[in-house]
Amino acid sequence: MSLTPLVYENPVLILLDTTAVLGELDWKTYPINGWDAITEMDEQNRPIHTFQVCHVMELNQNNWLRSGWIQRQAAQRVYVELRFTLRDCNSIPWVSGTCKETFNLFYLQTNEPLPSGTRFRPTDYAKVDTIAADESFTQTDLGDRVLRLNTEIREVGPLTQRGFYLAFQDVGACIALVSVKVFYKRCPSTLRNLAVFPDTVPHRDSSSLVEVKGACVENAEEKDTPKLYCGADGDWLVPLGHCVCSIGHEEKDGHCQTCKPGFFKPIAGNMKCSQCPLHSSSHDQAATMCHCEKGFYRANKDPSTMACTRPPSAPRNLVSLINDTALFLQWMPPSDTGGRSDITYNVLCQRCDGDSGGGMQCDPCEPDLRFIPRPLGLTGISVAILDYATPANYTFIVEAVNGVSGLGIAARALINVTVNTHQAGPALVGVIKKDWSSDNSIALSWTEEEHPPLDIVDYEVKYYEKEQEQLSYSSTRTKNPSVVVTGLRPSSVYVFHVRARTTAGYTAYSSNFEFSTSAEGRIQQPVKVTADNLWPVDCMGQCQGYIKARMKSQEKRRTRFRSGHVPFSGIKTYVDPDTYEDPTQAVEEFAKEIDPSSICIDRVIGTGEFGEVCSGRLRIPGRLDIAVAIKTLKGGYMEHQRRDFLREASIMGQFDSPNIIRLEGVVTKSKMLACFSVSRVNILQYTFMACRPVMIVVEYMANGALDSFLRTRDGQFTVLQLVGMMRGVAVGMAYLSDMGYVHRDLAARNILVDENLVCKVSDFGMSRVMEEDTEAAYTATGGKIPIRWTAPEAIAYGKFSSVSDVWSFGIVMWEVMSYGERPYWEMSNQDVILSMEEGYRLPAPMGCPVTLHQLMLHCWQKEPSQRPRFNNVLCFLDKLIINPSGLLTLVNESHNFPDSPDAMPDYPLFISIGDWLDSIKMSQYKNNFIAAGYTTLDSISTMSVDDIRRIGICLIGHQRRIISSIQSLRLQFHHIQQSGFQV
Ligand code: ADE
Repeated sequence: MSLTPLVYENPVLILLDTTAVLGELDWKTYPINGWDAITEMDEQNRPIHTFQVCHVMELNQNNWLRSGWIQRQAAQRVYVELRFTLRDCNSIPWVSGTCKETFNLFYLQTNEPLPSGTRFRPTDYAKVDTIAADESFTQTDLGDRVLRLNTEIREVGPLTQRGFYLAFQDVGACIALVSVKVFYKRCPSTLRNLAVFPDTVPHRDSSSLVEVKGACVENAEEKDTPKLYCGADGDWLVPLGHCVCSIGHEEKDGHCQTCKPGFFKPIAGNMKCSQCPLHSSSHDQAATMCHCEKGFYRANKDPSTMACTRPPSAPRNLVSLINDTALFLQWMPPSDTGGRSDITYNVLCQRCDGDSGGGMQCDPCEPDLRFIPRPLGLTGISVAILDYATPANYTFIVEAVNGVSGLGIAARALINVTVNTHQAGPALVGVIKKDWSSDNSIALSWTEEEHPPLDIVDYEVKYYEKEQEQLSYSSTRTKNPSVVVTGLRPSSVYVFHVRARTTAGYTAYSSNFEFSTSAEGRIQQPVKVTADNLWPVDCMGQCQGYIKARMKSQEKRRTRFRSGHVPFSGIKTYVDPDTYEDPTQAVEEFAKEIDPSSICIDRVIGTGEFGEVCSGRLRIPGRLDIAVAIKTLKGGYMEHQRRDFLREASIMGQFDSPNIIRLEGVVTKSKMLACFSVSRVNILQYTFMACRPVMIVVEYMANGALDSFLRTRDGQFTVLQLVGMMRGVAVGMAYLSDMGYVHRDLAARNILVDENLVCKVSDFGMSRVMEEDTEAAYTATGGKIPIRWTAPEAIAYGKFSSVSDVWSFGIVMWEVMSYGERPYWEMSNQDVILSMEEGYRLPAPMGCPVTLHQLMLHCWQKEPSQRPRFNNVLCFLDKLIINPSGLLTLVNESHNFPDSPDAMPDYPLFISIGDWLDSIKMSQYKNNFIAAGYTTLDSISTMSVDDIRRIGICLIGHQRRIISSIQSLRLQFHHIQQSGFQV
C-alpha cells in the first residue's frame, strides 16, 4: 500500500523523527555487523543519523535493525515514513544472485520497553510490508551516478499496547536509511457553528467516524446539539446542530459578543442586535430590551421591537348635532395618535342642570340614556345618543384612548353640549288626516292654526315604518299643511308626526298618527288615527324625506291627470313636457320667470350643447343673493333649439328634492337691448343689440361634477363620506323613480356636488335626446346611449326604466369608490357590451367594502326584475351609515377579479412592464417593479395593493392607478380570450 507523502500540518502528531534526535539513537542491530549506524553532522552541526547495510555479494543475508521503544500516546493507528536510498543491483558488478533491491518493515507491540538484554526474536515481530525503492541509483548522460532519495509511508496498527518497536530486515540489499518518522493523525480542535470541538483522534478502524459533541462558546446556547464527525484522515465531517448567541449577544467571527449600548437583542438566535426602537434606549452592554423614554410606554402585548408609544392627544373638532329624538356627537381623530393604530374613544356623560342659586350642578347621566353603537370603546368617530331628557343640559366628554392609555394620562376633549329642547312653543299641529293612499304613497293634511303666535315658516313631517326594527326614519318638509309622502312600502303601517317651524324655531311635535299604505295597485281612503310612543332615531346623514312638487304645481297636475294623463295608480306626478301640445306651456307651468336684471353673471364655468354655463348670483328682493349657475342658449338659436333647451327646465321645475338640482327659474320673456354673451377668451361682454335672452337658472354647486371632483380629490375621503355621496344620489333617484321619471343618463358626470359634499342629480334634458352627452354612442337600433352606464336591455332594445337607472346607479357607485375612474377603463364599447353579455362585471375598486361591491353587483343583475329598487338601495345604504361596521371588510385586494362564471384564465404576456407603466404614466416606477422581480405582465397579474406598497409605491393615487390598470388589463385580456382572439 502506498500513501501520498505528507505535509506535516496541524492534524499530525509526531511520535518519532530521527532527524530531530540530537543525541544518540538507541537502535539495535542483529547481527552486530549487519546494519551500520553512521552519524554525520550537517552544516548547522546537527547530527544526521543514518543506518546503512550493503552485503550484496554474500548469500542468505538476514540483518535486522530495531528502533527504540516508541510510545503510542493517543494514537490508534500510526504512520511510518521512511526516507532511504537503495542501490540498483544492475549497477554493481558480479552480484547477480546475491544482490536484493527490497527490505522488510516489522513491528512489535509491548506495554513497556523490553528489558535490556532481551534476546532478539524475529518471530515476535509482525510484518508490515516489503519496501522497494521507487528510484535507485541511475546513470546520468555524463556517466555520473545520481543518488535518488525514496520516501515511503506505511500504516501500522491497530495499536492496542502502550508502545511498540519498528524493525527493518535486510536480505542482501544496499540500503541507506536516512530518516524514520512516526506520526499519527487527529482532527484538530475547531470552532464551528458557535461550538468548540476538541482535538479528536480518529477511530482505529479507518472506516468508522468518531462522533464528537461540541460545547457552545461563551454567551451562546444550544439550538440543536452541535456535532461533528472525525474522519480517519483527521478531517471533520458532517456538521450537525448548532448554537446561537444568547439574548443580548450577537455573532461576530464565530463568537458571541455583547450588544453595544443603544442596541438590544430580546431573544437567543442568529439575528444581530437591533437598534433600540423609536422613543426607547439602552445604556448598558448586552441589553435584552430597550427602556421607553419618559412619557412613552409599551403595552403588555407590544413586542419589544415596537417603538414606545404614548397616549393619543385629544380628539379634535368635537361637534354636536341635535334633533328632537337623537343627539349626535362627531369628532375628528387626534392629531397625535401617540404612534399607535389601536385608538378607541370613550364618551362620558354628565347631566348639568342649573340649581336654584343660579349655579350648575353636574351628576352622572341617567343610566337609560342610550348610546348607539355604545358609549365606550368606540372605533368610529361618532356616536348617537337617544332617550335623553328634555329640557336638560348634558356635558359630554370624549376621550381618545389607545393601548398605552392606562399607563399614561388619557387626553380628553371636553365638550359641553347643551341639549336645548325648549320648544319654540307648544305643538301647532293637532289632528293629522290621511287624504288618500296608494301602495307606496300617503297623502296627509292637517289644519293650520288660525292665529299662530309666530309666523309658520314650514312644517317638518317625520315618519317611519312601524314594523321596521331598524332605527331609521325619514323626514320631509312642506310649506303647506299637507304633504304626499312617497317611497313607502305597500300594505305597511307608518307612524307620522308633524311639527311647525316658526321664526323662533321648532314647536313641539304633534302626537303620533299611524296610517297604512294600500295593497299594491289600490288607492285607499283614510284609516285609523292613533298616537304612539316616540320611536328612536339614529340616522346621522342627510335625513332625506322629500316633499312633493309644489302645491300649486300639484294642483295643476292633478287637473291634467284627470284630463287623461293620470296613470292607473294615480301617483305618477311627473308630467312629460312632450305631452303638451305647446311645450312652452310646460315651461310656464313648472318654471318661474326671472327678470334678467336680477341675475349677475360672474364667470363662465363650462359649455353645453346649447351655450355657455356661467356662475353668478340671483338677487331676490328682501333676501340675500343666492349663488346660481346660469345655462344660456347661444344667440341665433332656432325655435326647436329653444324648445329643446327649455325642456330641461320644465322637467326640473317639477322636482323638489334636496338631492335634485333645484331650478330657480328661467329667462324666456325678456327683450333686452344689452345681452350678455361670453367671448371665446372667457370675457363677459355686453352686446348692444335687441335680443331675447334664454336662460335656465339653477342652484350653484360649488364642487361641480362628481366625477371630476373625485378625480381631483383621489383618496381623500372616508368610505363613510363616499357612501354619504352615494346616498344623496340614491335619495334623488328614489324621488325621481317615485315620480315616474326615468333619467336614462345617470352617471357621475351628471351629479353635482355642493360645498357640503351633498350630491344632487342633474341633467334632465337627456331623457329624450342624448345629443349633449359626449359618452353617448349610437347603438345598433340607432339610439344614442352612454354604453358604459346603461343596462343591457336598454342598449339592446331601448327598454329604459327606473330599474335600468338602478343599473346606472351601480356604475355611479363604482365611479365613486374608484374616485372617478372610467368604467371599464379603455375597453371599447363593443368589448364592454360583449363582456357584460358573458356575465362579467366590474371588479371592486381598491379599498371597496364587500357590502358595497355586492350592492353594485345586485344593481347589475342581467334580469331587470332582479335588481333592487331605489328605495331598497337607499335602505341598504342607510343601514350601512347607521352601522358602519358593515363597511369594514374590504374586498380582498388580490382576488378582486370581476365576478365571473368561470375560473380565471392565465394572464397573457404581450408587452413589457416598461411599456405598460409608460402607458399609464407611471414610468417612474419601472425600477421598483424590476428590482422586486416583476419583469413580465404575467407576474403583475396577481399583485395586490399590499404588493404595490411593498415595492415602494407609496402615493395612494399612484397605487390606485396601478391597481386599477392591472384590473383593467385582466378584464380586457379575459374578454379577448373569451372571444377567441389570439394575443
Ligand atoms: N355646472 C353645471 N351646472 C352647474 C351648477 N349648477 N353648479 C356648478 N357647476 C355647474
